[in-house]
Amino acid sequence: MPAADIPDPEAFPETGAYADKLAFLLEYARLAPSLLNSQPWQFSLRDHTLGVLPDLERWQPVTDPERRELYLSLGCALENLLTAAEYFRLGFHVAFGDSERGDETFARVQFVEGATINQVRDPGLFHAIVRRRTCRRPFLPKLIPHEELLQLRNARLETDLALRFLANLEQKRRLAELVAAADRRLFANPDYRRELAGGIRRGMWRLPGPLTPLAVLAVRHLNPGPRLARRERQLLMSAPVLAVLASRNDTPVDWIRTGQLFQRLALTATKLGLAIQPMNRLLQVRSHRHELASMLPDNRLRPHVLLRLGHVDGGDRPTPRDPLSRHRV
Ligand SMILES: Cc1cc2nc3c(=O)[nH]c(=O)nc-3n(C[C@H](O)[C@H](O)[C@H](O)COP(=O)(O)O)c2cc1C
Repeated sequence: MPAADIPDPEAFPETGAYADKLAFLLEYARLAPSLLNSQPWQFSLRDHTLGVLPDLERWQPVTDPERRELYLSLGCALENLLTAAEYFRLGFHVAFGDSERGDETFARVQFVEGATINQVRDPGLFHAIVRRRTCRRPFLPKLIPHEELLQLRNARLETDLALRFLANLEQKRRLAELVAAADRRLFANPDYRRELAGGIRRGMWRLPGPLTPLAVLAVRHLNPGPRLARRERQLLMSAPVLAVLASRNDTPVDWIRTGQLFQRLALTATKLGLAIQPMNRLLQVRSHRHELASMLPDNRLRPHVLLRLGHVDGGDRPTPRDPLSRHRV
C-alpha cells in the first residue's frame, strides 16, 4: 500500500467543474483514521451528491461483530469531508439513509452550488487533517491546561452525544486493568490475531519495511497478548486525560455521528499540539463495555470510544492509505 499522498489545498480546482471540486474533497476523506487501518468506506458522486457508504469487504467481523467500529470509521471520513467542504466554501446538507435491504447505513451529502455556507466548524481544523496521527507512545508527564480542555470540550457540536473526561486516578487504574484484561482475552483468539495481522500489513504500526512480515508472523503464530497488555496499561496510565464518547442509542447512525465527533476531537487535539489514541479493545469485550458505561455519570449512555490525550516529543510518520480509485463506486 503506498504512503498516503498528502493533498495540496492550492490544487483545489477553484475555477473547475463543480464535480471536480466535490471529488477533491475525497482526498481529505480518505486520510481519516479507521479500525485496523481497514479504510472501510466507499464514495459515490452523482450530480451534486456525495455518498459515504460502508465497504463490507473491509469489515473486520471478529474484531467488530456489530460493525460499530466500521461505522465509527465511516463517521471519521465523513467529518474530514465536511471539514474540507466548509474550508473550500461549499454549502451542503447531510442526511442518513439505509440500503434497500436495510443492512447498510450510509450518509448522503447534498451540495448546493452557490449556497450560503453555514460555517459550524473551526476553520483551523482543516490543516490538522493531514497532520493528525494515532499515537502509540507513552505521554510526557505534563498536564493539559484548562483552556485547552475547554477547546477540546467545545469540539462537541452534537448536543445529544456525550464527551466525558475521566481524570480520577481510581477510574484510570480500573480502566488500565480492563484494557489489559481485554488484550489478554482478545489476543488468545487466533482469528482476532489474524485480523490484527491484516492491520499490520496495511502499515498500521508504521514498522520499517522488513519488520512488517516478521510482526505479521509473530502476531499470527505467537500470542503477543500478555506483552501488549502490559504496554497498553503503561500507555493508558501515562495519559493526563482519558475521554469517553457515548450516545443514548446504539444504532449505525449514532455510530457514524460519534465517529464524526471523535474525528473533530482528534483534529482539535492535533491543532493544539496534543497527541491522541483511541484505545477501543476494552469496548470489544461486552462485559468491559458495560463496566465502562457504569463509570459514566449517566449510566444510560452507550460508550463507543475510549481515548487518551497527552503530549509527546516529535511526530509520527503517516500510515499508508489505499488510492482513492479503490474507494470510488
Ligand atoms: C473506530 C476506531 C478504533 C480504533 N481503535 C484503536 C485501538 O484500539 N488502538 C489503537 O492503537 N488504534 C486504534 N485506532 C486507530 C487506527 O489503528 C488508525 O486510525 C489507523 O491505523 C490509521 O492510522 P492513523 O490514525 O495514524 O492515520 C482506531 C481507529 C478507529 C477509527
